Amino acid sequence: MTFRAKHLLGIEPLHPEEIRTVLDLSDKYVELNRRTVKQSDVLAGMTQINMFFENSTRTQASFELAGKRLGADVMNMAVSQSSVKKGETLIDTALTLNAMHPDLLVVRHQNSGAVDQLAQKVNCAVLNAGDGRHEHPTQALLDALTIRRAKGRLHRLTIAICGDIAHSRVARSNIILLGKMENRVRLIGPPTLMPTGVQEFGVEVYDDMKAGLADADVVMMLRLQKERMDGAFIPSEREYFHRYGLDAEKLSHAKEDAIVMHPGPMNRGVEIDGTIADDINRSVIQEQVEMGVAVRMAAMDLLARNLRAERGRQAVGEWA
Ligand code: NCD
Repeated sequence: MTFRAKHLLGIEPLHPEEIRTVLDLSDKYVELNRRTVKQSDVLAGMTQINMFFENSTRTQASFELAGKRLGADVMNMAVSQSSVKKGETLIDTALTLNAMHPDLLVVRHQNSGAVDQLAQKVNCAVLNAGDGRHEHPTQALLDALTIRRAKGRLHRLTIAICGDIAHSRVARSNIILLGKMENRVRLIGPPTLMPTGVQEFGVEVYDDMKAGLADADVVMMLRLQKERMDGAFIPSEREYFHRYGLDAEKLSHAKEDAIVMHPGPMNRGVEIDGTIADDINRSVIQEQVEMGVAVRMAAMDLLARNLRAERGRQAVGEWA
């Protein structure tokens, strides 16, 4: 079993072998989660604090459930009501929390790089639950697990990531992960929603759905992130749906057995037609949610093992 990381801040620093380790362990947690009694004691005695500076329902719930199923004491910090509103800096908040001796800190923040910064100030394992437009590693891992289970492999697949790439940390983490596992990644969207420097990502870029979806094994739709847009990026939602929204006609250009994914929350009728999202023969959107809990359990389990080992070494050092 190879997984050396101290924190899970992004996919970028992970070795393909470490990604495989997380996914293999996640498969075991999928089995546990399908049982009636879902309890494990892997994190018993450990404290997990979830700190979400940006609103989230599904990711926070998923991390909370993952920690509880592994037996951790889980606390949700309601950051919006906390002293951050009173002007406390991120670092002060981190130091205050650190003094409470958490073992796992799950952080979502609106600024890219904020979670890395925080990780340098605390003595526990930090998991990035999404930072600005930077990374969302557990989302990419749960997407990878969903793809691997549906397709039987996670290499040499053609994966089309469609829509608002520019504002998406989900797209960024997925591009890195799928590239590391040697897949062919295509980005489809209007040029106004492509990030700058996209040519250096090692991907193919399309602004036409029909051409981009041709022969795709996986169609990954992204939410139009209206809250991150400060100008006019699209002419209108209607026009956007017409050109880039996934409907049966556009999907017909992908492989016959192509799967449809979406990280949620969805804007039905904007980036995806509701009937496609609900089509259980094509859509794996509900599986993604299920895989999310298992992947977060696996990630926290592996980080906790490394944390215990490190603390063990420190204790031996102190006594030597
Ligand atoms: C994603 C996020 O927050 O980046 N959602 C999620 O994790 N459930 C994608 C999105 O907000 O569109």
